[in-house]
Amino acid sequence: MAILIDRSKRVLVQGMTGREGQARTRLMLEYGTRVVGGVTPGKGGAEVLGLPVFDSCADAVRALGPVDVSVLFVPAAGIKDAAVEALRAGIRLVVLVADRVPVWDAMEIAAEAKARGAEFLGPNTLGAASPGQAVVGMIGGRAESAREWFKPPLPGGTGVGIISRSGGMSSSTAYYCGQAGVRISSIVHIGGDAVLGLRLPDVALRFQDDPATDAIVVFGEIGGSQEEDLAGLIAAGRVTKPVIAYIGGKAAKAGTRFSHAGAIIEGNVGTHAGKVAALRGAGATVVESFGELPGAVAGVLRGRGSQSLMTEAEKRAVWTTAVTRIRPNEVAVRGHDIASLMGNVSFGAAVHLILTGVLPDEARGRLMDAILVSSIDHGATPPSCLAARTVASTGAGLSQSVAAGIMSINKHHGGAIEDGARYLGGLLAKRDAGGGTLDEIAMSEVARVKSTGERLPGFGHRVHTKDPRTARLFELAALAGLADSPHIAAARAVERAFAAIGKPLPINVDGAIGAILADMGMDPKVFNGIFMIARTPGLVAHVVEEQTREKPMRRIDPVNHAYDGPSQPRLEGTPR
Ligand SMILES: CC(C)(COP(=O)(O)OP(=O)(O)OC[C@H]1O[C@@H](n2cnc3c(N)ncnc32)[C@H](O)[C@@H]1OP(=O)(O)O)[C@@H](O)C(=O)NCCC(=O)NCCS
Repeated sequence: MAILIDRSKRVLVQGMTGREGQARTRLMLEYGTRVVGGVTPGKGGAEVLGLPVFDSCADAVRALGPVDVSVLFVPAAGIKDAAVEALRAGIRLVVLVADRVPVWDAMEIAAEAKARGAEFLGPNTLGAASPGQAVVGMIGGRAESAREWFKPPLPGGTGVGIISRSGGMSSSTAYYCGQAGVRISSIVHIGGDAVLGLRLPDVALRFQDDPATDAIVVFGEIGGSQEEDLAGLIAAGRVTKPVIAYIGGKAAKAGTRFSHAGAIIEGNVGTHAGKVAALRGAGATVVESFGELPGAVAGVLRGRGSQSLMTEAEKRAVWTTAVTRIRPNEVAVRGHDIASLMGNVSFGAAVHLILTGVLPDEARGRLMDAILVSSIDHGATPPSCLAARTVASTGAGLSQSVAAGIMSINKHHGGAIEDGARYLGGLLAKRDAGGGTLDEIAMSEVARVKSTGERLPGFGHRVHTKDPRTARLFELAALAGLADSPHIAAARAVERAFAAIGKPLPINVDGAIGAILADMGMDPKVFNGIFMIARTPGLVAHVVEEQTREKPMRRIDPVNHAYDGPSQPRLEGTPR
């Protein structure tokens, strides 16, 4: 978990075609943020980094489906209209990067957000980041640096939450905490203006409720009453996690012009001494100099035996992996103890876990298992089998021969799983953009491919007119709650359309697997990998058979071979 932004959040970029919008979209994508599209009025139909640009947020949401967060790289003059448009499109969090936004505009945005139960970050904010997951805005700069600087919590573990009133110091605080071995759940720069969306105390309450956060680090500054309000929450018992703070501006003399509009001291409210006293009085740790902050944070965590603090070995590591942790007498796959996975979850569930980080429920685990079983082998004719056998016949060992088979799993063999899923996703996008019902879209698609002779990925089969694997997979998908899920519905619409023109081209096993995996929310990038995992046992069987039964360097006829295994398909009754 994390607050405000994580890898699952669907993000829109307003002003995506602008200078900063384009540059930051690339960096956000590189870090792992799920950017789904952008908005620039008058530029609908354009693309930035392969992502669609729309004329308005309403158009974007209609075409892309619900959006969780919108980040605005729109200059100050256009911020009010752009933010209000996002809120009216149902987006629950908008991030306002621009500086010099008129106070009155910020107040109008606040009124609109309040009326809609939504929230905004900024204006004048660098945004938010959840290390290891996603960044929204400008925190961390290059993805490579952000990955190196900000240490994420271990899977299922905790980190500290960082709230900063200074843009530059939000990254620095996270960086120096990382150097002291401190893991970070999320970093939030609340912005430097006088009128803000989420204020420091609001963010502290979010961290209080976040199971992945076990302490709160504050980079505060003089002016306003945010630190005093946080002290009030601590005193009232609403923030109970440890708070470790530094307040900037101690040396500022009366009349000093600080860079942030929010740093105005009125009378005695907002002074450095007042903030330090309020926070200490409530029980927070407040350090005198910024240099002491990381050590103080590490000290508090050490005192609590917190796992937000890295071990010495973890600190020394030059690169990190989030797949499996090995410690003496301990193996944890994506945070799950391997001994407790063994005998308790199926291989399919474990594959889902290692590829996505999520352990599926029993029905989805069974479905993953079925997908793997469905593709375990398809006889001697597929290219992967022929490649593996051919290489084995030259005298190569098991690993080289199986590797040769795996290397032939590409766009035209196994690749229909990914291509089919992407194709069905395109039909769904067309429907969501108002292009008609799925059946209407499927009919026009079928008419189109009939005239062009194009082959649709995931439909039809060289051997089967009714693939025995497809029906069974859909049956298990229904048991896992995916009966009417979008990609499966789109696949069925295309199948119906082919049948309607008298050309029965049923969904094949690749099409079914692609639709199911997409509806399970898996990333199409791993679909070919799932096919490789599934097919490996079949390849091993063929290679060993080739090595033990056949003569070296034989000419392998892909067509004229005969099966001499057990005579009839053995139907085992209730599947396990
Ligand atoms: C927001 C900001 C980064 C934009 O700068 P920029 O990228 O150089 O500006 P550009 O003019 O190139 O791009 C802005 C885009 O927004 C678009 N835009 C304007 N109104 C829009 C709206 N209502 N919706 C969507 N896009 C809009 C513009 O059309 C433009 O795109 P185009 O160039 O394709 O026409 C800049 O104005 C700014 O405020 N910088 C300071 C940020 C900062 O430091 N924040 C505080 C951190 S501590």
